[in-house]
Amino acid sequence: MITALVLILAAYLLGSLSGSLLLGRLRGVDIRTQGSGNAGGTNALRTQGWRFALGTVLVDVGKGVLAAWLARRFAGDADVAYLAVLAAVAGHVWPVFHGFRGGKGAGTLVGGLLVLWPLAVLPLLAVWLLCLTITGYVGLATILAAAALPAFAFAIGADGTRLAFALAVAAFIAFTHRANLARLRAGNEHRFERARVLAR
Ligand code: G3P
Repeated sequence: MITALVLILAAYLLGSLSGSLLLGRLRGVDIRTQGSGNAGGTNALRTQGWRFALGTVLVDVGKGVLAAWLARRFAGDADVAYLAVLAAVAGHVWPVFHGFRGGKGAGTLVGGLLVLWPLAVLPLLAVWLLCLTITGYVGLATILAAAALPAFAFAIGADGTRLAFALAVAAFIAFTHRANLARLRAGNEHRFERARVLAR
């Protein structure tokens, strides 16, 4: 029990290390004041260019990988490992080291899935790419990809832990993207502009 709590707390602290905000300190920028205001890979790409965005994604996915790996290695219990991923995602969204204002959790979630449930990453990626290609909205693509996770879990007859995790993730990602949903309704959501962001 103590081990599980320590691992979940460690996952939250790891999640609180925000890639874009740490790299931004080196560059003297806080991307929460630019673009969509989100401390994540998409807004890093939008406002700082692809190198900064790549570093952001590596840190944000990497901490999900590490949190999941540590929990699985030292707790040896799937429930604790999935809780640790949720804690890392919560740390990314409400980071103790950055005034509790972080990102939306998608990259960190993918990192956790790569360790605990790699098969689930494929349908998520497929839905994300398809939606992004059709609509040009990264936020919408992320919401729909997360929503596909419980459908996938149900379709393959996943166990209770995975089904509960998938449902929690779908609801949580929709919650963290509520500003994107509001902008979509208002017709002023940012579109992904490949040519412009890659030229930076
Ligand atoms: O995971 C974040 C992404 O889905 C949306 O980012 O900056 O467009 O709100 P942004």
